[in-house]
Amino acid sequence: MSRKFNYKDVFSLKNKKIVILGGSGKMGVNFSKILSSAGAKIILGDIKKAVNKPKIQYSYCDVSNETSIKSFFEKTFKQEKKIHTLIYNVYSKPKDYYKKFEDYDDKVWEKVMQSNLSGAYKASKKMISHFKKKKISGNIIFVLSTYGLVGPDFSIYKDLSSKKNIYGGKFSLTTPASYTTSKSGLLGLAKYLSTSFGKDNIRVNCLTPGGVYDGQEKKFVKNYSHKVPLGRMAKWDEYNGAILFLSSDASSYMTGSNLIVDGGWTAW
Ligand SMILES: NC(=O)c1ccc[n+]([C@@H]2O[C@H](COP(=O)([O-])OP(=O)(O)OC[C@H]3O[C@@H](n4cnc5c(N)ncnc54)[C@H](O)[C@@H]3O)[C@@H](O)[C@H]2O)c1
Repeated sequence: MSRKFNYKDVFSLKNKKIVILGGSGKMGVNFSKILSSAGAKIILGDIKKAVNKPKIQYSYCDVSNETSIKSFFEKTFKQEKKIHTLIYNVYSKPKDYYKKFEDYDDKVWEKVMQSNLSGAYKASKKMISHFKKKKISGNIIFVLSTYGLVGPDFSIYKDLSSKKNIYGGKFSLTTPASYTTSKSGLLGLAKYLSTSFGKDNIRVNCLTPGGVYDGQEKKFVKNYSHKVPLGRMAKWDEYNGAILFLSSDASSYMTGSNLIVDGGWTAW
């Protein structure tokens, strides 16, 4: 790589093609917009459709289903020839996701693990074979959560109302073990892949966001904000700079690492 002294060149994604799995969600759409503004073409793979613009294309992909992953990548590689980056951004919240640990349904646990974690392993296999075959200096980014690094402080969920859980269902807001376990598993997978494929010029890193204000119950927002040194929840666009950094040559010497952007949540 030539040395770059202009910020536009350092962060440029001109001629880059990026797959975002779980890309139709709120953060995924923000990521697509910033990355396409830097020149990339984006292919969103998700079970639900969001945007479909010339530089942001949607294609169905259920990452918890082997056949669906296979056909998504077959179609994408046929259409695009070269993909440079995979961003794994999936957040699975099946029915009864918020049930308490002792009563947790094994099927829900498995669905979350398949979607948040096993899908990343399967998608990485496809992408790494593609990078090697096409001799691409590939880039993989897993989107984690602070709860992949530290356990939840359950005091912030005390006395919340099930009716005010904006994410639906019969249970009040909490962080299930399936989330913490799948997100910390992604960190291990990133470290494994980084040491395995650094020699092939393939980089693998994580982005760890903190909680975003999404109109949650007031009591929760107050409790959460109290735990954050910056004193508030994040805004949806506050991870855009970090994803651009990880997706571009600005992070060319970074692999096996984790960029934490959490308002200081994990700093205490
Ligand atoms: N929102 C937050 O406060 C927050 C905080 C920390 C980390 N994160 C992480 O950020 C990422 C994005 O979160 P978000 O808030 O935008 O969530 P979101 O629910 O808006 O988006 C997640 C996307 O994943 C998709 N998805 C779920 N199951 C899937 C499957 N089987 N196959 C394909 N796609 C599937 C959903 O359809 C959705 O579009 C997630 O990885 C999440 O863990 C979010």
